[in-house]
Amino acid sequence: MPKVKFLPLEKEIMAKTGVTILDAALDNNIKIDHNCGGNCACATCHIVVEKGLDTLNEMSEDERDMLDEVENLTETSRLACQCKISSDLVITIPEKETDEDDDIS
Ligand code: FES
Repeated sequence: MPKVKFLPLEKEIMAKTGVTILDAALDNNIKIDHNCGGNCACATCHIVVEKGLDTLNEMSEDERDMLDEVENLTETSRLACQCKISSDLVITIPEKETDEDDDIS
């Protein structure tokens, strides 16, 4: 079973091959935002792949388009709901601009 380590939490989990990074995280109580429910339509599940990028399935056009919306994009950015696990990975969940700053006063 592949091991997936999530930073900055320093939490390591075992994941089934073929499961998405998003599902593996949620199954292990690791919070990754997923506003569209994993349908490649929101980019809130943005993650940065630190190790194992080349073991992931290729990025689709839709995923690429969605990633263009991400502010803190890196060369190894992916969408957690679109990446299927096949081997060991190290993932960073980027800090989010907090929604709590939304209050309009
Ligand atoms: S959960 Fe919306 S794009 Fe991944």
